[in-house]
Order: sequence, then C-alpha cells, then structure tokens
Amino acid sequence: MRSMTPAELVLMRKACALTRDALNYAETLVKPGISTYELDKSIEKFIIDSGASPACLGYEGYPASICASVNEMVVHGIPSKDVILKEGDIISVDLCVAYKGYIGDAARTFPVGKISPEKARLIEVTKQSFFEGIKHLAVGHRIGELSHAIQEYAEKNGYSVVRELAGHGIGKKMHEPPTICNYGKVTDGPMVIEDATLAIEPMINMGRKEVWLVEDGWGVITRDGKPSAHYENTVLVTKNGVEILTL
Ligand code: MF3
Ligand code: CO
Repeated sequence: MRSMTPAELVLMRKACALTRDALNYAETLVKPGISTYELDKSIEKFIIDSGASPACLGYEGYPASICASVNEMVVHGIPSKDVILKEGDIISVDLCVAYKGYIGDAARTFPVGKISPEKARLIEVTKQSFFEGIKHLAVGHRIGELSHAIQEYAEKNGYSVVRELAGHGIGKKMHEPPTICNYGKVTDGPMVIEDATLAIEPMINMGRKEVWLVEDGWGVITRDGKPSAHYENTVLVTKNGVEILTL
C-alpha cells in the first residue's frame, strides 16, 4: 500500500470515471439474446473510443477486455460466442480501464430481463456487503475490519464468501499490495494509510463457499452450481473519509 500524490490522483480519478462509464454502458447492453462475446467487443470499443485502453486484455495472457461471468460463474468468465444471455440469468461484468498509466477496476452483477427474487436478493446483499465493509475502512484502521464486516453481513444473510479471490491495492498496476480478503478477523492485514487507492470486491455465493477453476484456466465456478455475485469499486481513502472513485 502506498499514498498516491495529488498529480497521480488526477489520473486515477479519470481512469476510474471511465471504468464507471464503461460499466454503465455494459448495463444498457445486457439483454436476453446477446452473447458475452458481443458484450466484450462493444465494451472494448467504448473504452478505446473514450481515449483509454482495456487493461484486462493481455493481462497475464487474459484473452478479452472484460470478464463476463454468468450465474454459477464467480469471476473471470472468458467472453464467448457460445454464451448467450437468457431471461433469468445474472451476469457479473468486471473490467479494468487504463488511462495514462493508471488503472480503475470495478464490477457489477446485472439481471438479464426478469430474474427470481432469490437472485435479486443475492445481487442486493453482495452490493450491500461492499457498503457495510467500507463503513470500517479508514486511515489507521486495519484492513481486517473491512474484511470482517463483509463476511459478517454476507453470512448473516445466509450466503458464503469466496476465499480464493480477494480485493487489492491498485494504481499503476492492476494488482498492488495489500491483498484485501472478504473474510477474516478485525486484527488481520495492514493498517490503512492516507491517500491509498484500493479495489474492494466481495464475491458472494448463494450456496457453499467452495469453487472450481474451469478448464480454460480462468473461469471460477461454484462447486455446488448455485449462483454467485460480484460487486467491486476502486476507492480512495483520505483522512476525511472514503471516496468511491468508480461510482
Ligand atoms: N478485474 C479483476 C480484478 O478485480 C481482474 C481481472 S483478471 C484479468 O482483480 F485477467 F482479466 F485481468
Ligand atoms: Co479487482
């Protein structure tokens, strides 16, 4: 974790605003009948047309500009012409935008048409777990206070927290220290410093917490086949509080 300079924060804010815009655009595209490949190509064009670049593309060999994870896929779903959204699905779109050397990272889970009340509640609780977490995020507090609050809220609502993936510091690189778990003890992790930029990203399962890696080496799915949701923002922690840069 490090403190960003004011000049860096100007660029970081811009990268994060473009990340938000790309996700808002993604939301307008999500409909029954569209493939995740088409989603990826349209969002990629949107990012490039806005003067930025899709930071996921080519990251450790990742082959697309977005991660598109449907239903039981937790994260890192590779877009495909064979994955066509249908009424009742939920889709998590996760993307990173690079602007002048700085990166914004955010994710949302969207409903496809009309979805079941159970899936709608999963999306809502996952989103709220982020907001419960950041109530405990402040300069001088341990990362574990946020991690613990996310876990407590998700489990209180009858869901489970994925252990294998976590949030992270972010800035010039997509993944910087520290690792920000979505579960744990209040005494875990480092103390938060002023002007740190962090990606906070609860991944919450409707059923059990265990996951599998799929054959493509990227996709992560729930072992029990039940749905999972993701909600992520890049935030800035200042001495005056938390600012959500991708909202
Ligand atoms: N945006 C993801 C994260 O939150 C990373 C995507 S993996 C990539 O860390 F390979 F697609 F970039
Ligand atoms: Co992230």
